[in-house]
Order: sequence, then C-alpha cells, then structure tokens
Amino acid sequence: MTKLQTALVTGASAGIGREIARILVRERGMNVVATARRLDRLEQLRNELPEGTLFPIAGDLGDKAFRQRLWDESITHTSSIDVLINNAGIGLRGPFLDQSMLDIERLLNLNVVALIDLTQKAARHMSERKHGQIVQVSSIVGAFGVPYSAVYAASKHAVDGLVKSLRPELRGTGVRVWAARPGRTASEFYNLALGGNVAPEHIPPARSAEKVARAIVAGLDRNNAFLAPTIDAALLVGLCRWLPGFESLMGRVAKHVFDKELAAAKQG
Ligand SMILES: NC(=O)c1ccc[n+]([C@@H]2O[C@H](COP(=O)([O-])OP(=O)(O)OC[C@H]3O[C@@H](n4cnc5c(N)ncnc54)[C@H](OP(=O)(O)O)[C@@H]3O)[C@@H](O)[C@H]2O)c1
Repeated sequence: MTKLQTALVTGASAGIGREIARILVRERGMNVVATARRLDRLEQLRNELPEGTLFPIAGDLGDKAFRQRLWDESITHTSSIDVLINNAGIGLRGPFLDQSMLDIERLLNLNVVALIDLTQKAARHMSERKHGQIVQVSSIVGAFGVPYSAVYAASKHAVDGLVKSLRPELRGTGVRVWAARPGRTASEFYNLALGGNVAPEHIPPARSAEKVARAIVAGLDRNNAFLAPTIDAALLVGLCRWLPGFESLMGRVAKHVFDKELAAAKQG
C-alpha cells in the first residue's frame, strides 16, 4: 500500500476536524492543508504543530470560487493530496415548518454541494495517480431519520448515497471513498445548530471529538464503506438496519426527548 503523506482537512478550526488534523500530523507524520473560515483558529493550530506540517487556507466552502482556489493552492503547496477529509458541516435543529429557505440552502450548499465538488476534484486527481482516499464525515443520521433534524438528515443521506454509488464506480481506480458516521460528539456543532445561544448546561452529553477523530483516522487502514467511530453509533445504526420497526419506535421516543431538549435550549 502506498504511504499516505498529505491530507486536505475541511472544518479544521474546531471539533472533529481539528482533532483529525492534529492526529494526522502528530501520529501519522502527514502534512495537512487545513481549511475553515476562521484563520486565527487555523493559525493557532499551525503554531502548536511542528513547523511546516500544517498549511492553513481560510475561506467559505459555500463559495464555489473559494473551493477552486483551495484545491489549486493545496496542490501547489503539497504537489499531491493523498487524503481528502470532507469534514466541514453544519446542523439545523428545530421544527421543519419554522425553518427558513436561506438556512436550508446554506446547509445543503455546505454539507452536500461543497462536499460533492471537493470529492470530484479529489477523485479526478487521485484516479490519475491511482492512489488516494476520500473520507466523508457523515453522521448516524445518514443511516436513519430523526425528528427536528430533517434537512440535516437529508444532507447526510445524500452523502451516504454518494459513497454507496461511487464505491463501485471507482473500483479499480485506486481511489477509496468511504464515510464515517459519528453519533453525538462534543464540539461547537449542537449549539450552532440551534442558533448559537444554548447555555452549556443545556448541551447534552456527547463523545469526545478526539475519540471520534481517532477512530476516523484508524479507518484509513481499513476498507469498509462505512465506519461507526463509537459503539453507541454502531449499535443505533445496526438496530435500525436489522430490527424491523426500531427506527419508527426510536423516532417517536426521540421526538419526546428532543421536545424537552429544544425547550431547554430556548431558555438560552
Ligand atoms: N458534533 C456532532 O454531534 C456530530 C455528529 C455526527 C456528525 N457530525 C459531523 O461532523 C462534522 C464536523 O462537525 P463538528 O461536530 O466537529 O462541528 P463543529 O465543531 O461545529 O466544526 C465544524 C467545522 O466546519 C467549519 N465550517 C462551518 N461552516 C463552514 C463554511 N461555510 N466554510 C468552511 N468551513 C466551515 C467550521 O469552521 P469555521 O466556523 O471556522 O468556518 C468548523 O471548523 C460535520 O460534518 C457534522 O455534520 C457531527
């Protein structure tokens, strides 16, 4: 197997993406191009890592022109990208009937359109070199539905559909496409998905971003289409898949739990 030496990690200023970037550099000895909108956060990350190992490029992935510049600069800087980690993503939590089209489009543009664009750029580059991995950070809700996150779940189902279709299409090209499906993870995600004003005591417990990132990085050494980074994520996806009626029952229970969570979050 050819050694993985360079990676482009999106959403590297926080949460899972920042941990993935740290682990790739520190434990895999890789060089990482790290992107997100907040340059100061990317520079902080660069400064904590050995010199010359992390190259920040800041911008909005919702912007098509930025995505092209990001890709071009990544290749100029590294000469080749062995791993693309499509991690940047946002949530949108609350009643579907109340959600604005602006927020819905912003989510789909980042979680689906930007991810597909970078996937295509990387797949062309990697298939020419007959080597590379494209990792989509999806979610357990790519595998089943969940109340109050309908558009987010739809975006992750789109990601999972892309992976399922590209795997047979790209077989024999040397390009491996796969997805990680985390469950609840401690990061900025939950607060932002609810508008950004949730008090810390109203944020439900979650797995650590480092633990999830470590499992995703370990997935680079396997050949699965989908990876559950934690046992609870594996259990939920497995039960929905193999136990008829479980998904529908879970949806009903989740609605009651999430009603309470949303009410608590509204208090600020
Ligand atoms: N946290 C969870 O419970 C959970 C569960 C399952 C799956 N996931 C998935 O895991 C991935 C990472 O989530 P996380 O929990 O680490 O969230 P996070 O802490 O909110 O981090 C999200 C990252 O995406 C970047 N980002 C957001 N909008 C962007 C934009 N328009 N352009 C460029 N970068 C942008 C953010 O950086 P800037 O703000 O600096 O741009 C940040 O680095 C997402 O795809 C999410 O759907 C999360």
